[in-house]
Amino acid sequence: MAIRGVPGAAIVTSLTETEGAVSILGLAPPEESAIVRIGHISDLHLADRARYPRNGFSARDCERHSTKLAKGLLDALREVDVDHLVLTGDLTFSSEPREFERAADMLRWWAAAGKLTVVPGNHDVWTADAVDSGRFLRAIGPDGKGMRRPAPTYPHVVPLGEVVLVALDSARFGETPHQTAGRIGADQLRSARELCRQHQKAGKATVLAFHHHVVLPPERIPSDVLVARMPLADADQVIRLVAELPVAAVLHGHRHCAFRVDIPGADHPTPILCAGSASRVADEPVRRARAYVYDFDASGLKGVEALVSGGT
Ligand SMILES: [Fe+2]
Ligand SMILES: [Fe+2]
Repeated sequence: MAIRGVPGAAIVTSLTETEGAVSILGLAPPEESAIVRIGHISDLHLADRARYPRNGFSARDCERHSTKLAKGLLDALREVDVDHLVLTGDLTFSSEPREFERAADMLRWWAAAGKLTVVPGNHDVWTADAVDSGRFLRAIGPDGKGMRRPAPTYPHVVPLGEVVLVALDSARFGETPHQTAGRIGADQLRSARELCRQHQKAGKATVLAFHHHVVLPPERIPSDVLVARMPLADADQVIRLVAELPVAAVLHGHRHCAFRVDIPGADHPTPILCAGSASRVADEPVRRARAYVYDFDASGLKGVEALVSGGT
């Protein structure tokens, strides 16, 4: 499973180790057959630069993200043979049709293989036009295949052996998108609770995935201040759910830097993992484009590795 030479070159490093200090050729194979290996990327922000400025963004804003980096990570994820891939939103820059088309193209292999789960981010519901036409669901949808007739579809539940992925939609349209909070909403939260209970009884681990951050780590990045203005309005309800029912992990994006925060859980501390942006052009270690690879079994999260673009 060597990944050296993969386009968009990647190094593999443990989440807890110093960025760039480790250069390993591949992930170790799962130790037990019950292990479910899940890849996680987020915030591709695919843009058609020539069509900007529009929707509150300049052409220069688009240059913060690189399609090539994202493609390199997707190739690397295929090489390490994940069982399933979760994409936690912000596929597009401002919900333009061409941006969704590019996302669908990039994800086609994963969707066709039935190995993909996608949730929308706030940038995927950026304009009234995109929301009214159900653009995200038509082009991508929860499994990346698109929906002929867009319909409410979250929670989207994906059984993966001893692990069940529960994908939720936290993206909400607002007239001022730069300041609009995300919200999972009472209905989805109620369903998520019920699903956690059912999976607990069945002896399976539940993994939650959505776009917005639940908590922010203490260390702040000044250029990330905009995202703090777009919080998850019902984050407290997620924290409560995690405290009361076993959740193996919460996966999200939105904040374009990677971090892990463990919060009190029903059985043991529950990891909340932000994958950052899989296309971000950045030198800051926590911002560099990456994918996470998680090993889960019925008892929870057993391992976390990162594929980081720009390695040697
Ligand atoms: Fe984003
Ligand atoms: Fe976002």
